[in-house]
Amino acid sequence: MNILVWPGSLREGSLNRKLAEVIAGKLSHQGIGADLINFRDFEMPLYDGDVESSTGIPNSVSALAEKISGCDGWILVTPEYNFGVPGPVKNAIDWLSRIRPYPTSNKTCFLASAAPGLVGGARGLIALRPTLSFMGSWLVPDSFSLAEAANSFGPEGQLKDEGLDKMLSQMLDKFIHATKNLRSP
Ligand code: FNR
Repeated sequence: MNILVWPGSLREGSLNRKLAEVIAGKLSHQGIGADLINFRDFEMPLYDGDVESSTGIPNSVSALAEKISGCDGWILVTPEYNFGVPGPVKNAIDWLSRIRPYPTSNKTCFLASAAPGLVGGARGLIALRPTLSFMGSWLVPDSFSLAEAANSFGPEGQLKDEGLDKMLSQMLDKFIHATKNLRSP
C-alpha cells in the first residue's frame, strides 16, 4: 500500500510539513509506503482558463495528479488561511479538478492541519470537505488538527503530547483500514 502525504504549505520550516513528517513516519513504521512530497516541487501558475485552452494542463499539475492517482489513499496536511483553504492548495485542487477522471476519485483521504493558534487550522479542513468529496475522494470522518503547533514538536520532530500522538496513530489506523477496504472489499 502506498499513501501520498501532501503538506499544503510551501515554506521551509512549515509546521504542517513537520506534522506531515510525523504522519509519514507513523505509516512507514507500520510498513506502509509513505510518499511525502514537497509542494514546492509542483510549482504551478494561477488557474487561468485561457492558459488551459492554449497550453493545456501544466506539467507540474499532471505530475501531482499522477502522484495522487498512483496512490491507494492520500493525506493532505495543510494550514488554514483566514479561516479557509490556503490559496496555493485551492489553486492546485482547482487545476487537478480539470483532469478526468479526477485524480482524487475513488481514493480515501485523511485531512490534518497544524497552526500556532488554539484551533489548529481545523476550519480550513472543514472547508476542504465538500470540494474533495465532490472530486470523488472518500474522506474519513476523523481529521487531526494540531493546536499550538509551534510548541508541540520535540527535538526529534515527534509530537510532545503522548495523548495526541496516540490519538493520531489511532486515526491513521482507521484510515488505513478504510483504505484497505476500499481497495479490496
Ligand atoms: C495565517 N495563519 C492562520 N492561523 C490560523 O490558525 N487561522 C487562520 O485563519 C490563519 N490565517 C492566516 C493567513 C495567512 C495569509 C497566513 C500567512 C497565516 C497563521 C498560520 O497558521 C501560520 O502561519 C502557520 O505556521 C502556517 O502553516 P505552516 O506554513 O507553518 O505550515
